[in-house]
Amino acid sequence: MGSTDRPEPLRLGSIAPNFQAQTTKGPIDFHEFIGNNWVILFSHPEDFTPVCTTELGAFAKLEPEFTRRGVKLIGLSANTIDSHGEWIKDINEISGSNLNFPIIGDKNRQIALLYDMIDHQDATNVDEKGIAFTIRSVFVIDPKKVIRTILSYPASTGRNTAEVLRIVDSLQTGDKFKVTTPINWVPGDDVIVHPSVKTEQAKDIFPEMKIIKPYLRTTPLPKDKTSAA
Ligand code: BEZ
Repeated sequence: MGSTDRPEPLRLGSIAPNFQAQTTKGPIDFHEFIGNNWVILFSHPEDFTPVCTTELGAFAKLEPEFTRRGVKLIGLSANTIDSHGEWIKDINEISGSNLNFPIIGDKNRQIALLYDMIDHQDATNVDEKGIAFTIRSVFVIDPKKVIRTILSYPASTGRNTAEVLRIVDSLQTGDKFKVTTPINWVPGDDVIVHPSVKTEQAKDIFPEMKIIKPYLRTTPLPKDKTSAA
């Protein structure tokens, strides 16, 4: 707590706060759920709403790609797990998916408050009592339980699952090879040598490195190392 008694905001580099919750796959302790995996914790406003239905179907279809990268998905909204269970049937019917990851039932907003997911903007994104639902938050958490990326989308804007996967690819590639990734990078594209790596050392590690400017050095990843996995 700071001097104003407000909890510290969650930032990149914060440890993901632990919690216990009911989910569609049974009760969890979040840190145990993370285990030694990467995790995408994402909230959506409400069950049985149109944009959320398209998003959950898309995440379900892309789950094998997340699994291949050692990433577990877990959703959340301020509805009960019984409601989630009924809604999952619709999601699978509409999108042709087989949604297998847990969705947290956070009817009392305990976790939404802990992770600052409550909607402060959209007056239509409220329950029957006028209490705000959640925005579309995404937390990318690494196996050390460190928050590595935070995204916040309004209720009106569906996310881009390919972008969430691309962020995972960038983080895992960066961790493994001491590189960064440029605008619109996708796996297979050239990467940028991390500024902390001296050029002499970089030439040894990345023989095909191009020095465009002393501060902008690009390279393909070594051929046998194109995947971070
Ligand atoms: C939707 O998922 O379509 C949605 C949910 C809450 C507010 C606006 C849109």
